[in-house]
Amino acid sequence: MRCQLMICAVLGLFLTFHIKINDAVVFKFTNYVCESYNQSWFVFHNYRLKAVSRNKVLLNMNGTILHPANNISIHGRIFKKANGYKPWLFDFFFDACQYLRKRNQPVFNIIYGLFNQFSNINHSCPYVGPQIVKDFYLRPELLRLPFPTGDYLLALQWYFDKKLQFDTNVSFTFVEDLMKSK
Ligand SMILES: *[C@@H]1O[C@H](CO)[C@@H](O)[C@H](O)[C@H]1NC(C)=O
Ligand SMILES: *[C@@H]1O[C@H](CO)[C@@H](O)[C@H](O)[C@H]1NC(C)=O
Ligand SMILES: *[C@@H]1O[C@H](CO)[C@@H](O)[C@H](O)[C@H]1NC(C)=O
Ligand SMILES: *[C@@H]1O[C@H](CO)[C@@H](O)[C@H](O)[C@H]1NC(C)=O
Ligand SMILES: *[C@@H]1O[C@H](CO)[C@@H](O)[C@H](O)[C@H]1NC(C)=O
Repeated sequence: MRCQLMICAVLGLFLTFHIKINDAVVFKFTNYVCESYNQSWFVFHNYRLKAVSRNKVLLNMNGTILHPANNISIHGRIFKKANGYKPWLFDFFFDACQYLRKRNQPVFNIIYGLFNQFSNINHSCPYVGPQIVKDFYLRPELLRLPFPTGDYLLALQWYFDKKLQFDTNVSFTFVEDLMKSK
């Protein structure tokens, strides 16, 4: 098939533009720290990051909830690095069991959308047994937030019956897509 010069030019430009957009964005994990504060309810078997290429880092986690948890809340905070991590825009506390029914926490919707398919947590309360996150990596196209370039920490603290059980703290780097934001 012969395409007309104009269409070819536009198509070429579009493809070039797209490739450049994807090359320009970096959105990857840089650190991951977890800790259980109550080994009789939640244990971590392992949690780790693994770089598979320069801009793709996989997050894996394996933990067990030893007794059914029916009453789960999450305290989430995002920090931005600037001489240490400083609180940045987002600080939320919500009922996770209610969230799973209503999807009523807009910031967590984005976080959940990023990792949901890599884990076995997409179900309603109660939670018990193995909690697995496998080969989770960050996809910039799903990040619908105006993040400026920088290093961030997402601290999630997990409460059962209003008592802190464990932390999952993940750091990531984001390099803004300058072409797209123009
Ligand atoms: C996770 O980050 C929060 C906020 O900086 C901090 O209070 C908590 O101690 C951290 N937890 C771990 C296990 O590093
Ligand atoms: C620790 O977990 C047990 C369940 O195994 C629970 O009964 C207890 O209240 C928890 N303690 C704290 C401080 O969260
Ligand atoms: C998680 O860790 C437990 C305890 O070490 C192990 O038995 C289980 O096979 C692990 N699960 C996965 C999916 O790696
Ligand atoms: C999560 O579960 C809901 C309800 O069971 C389902 O509609 C949705 O497609 C699931 N999402 C993923 C990413 O598996
Ligand atoms: C969760 O547990 C706390 C502490 O036991 C209790 O005050 C609260 O009412 C419970 N919430 C729900 C939704 O059951």
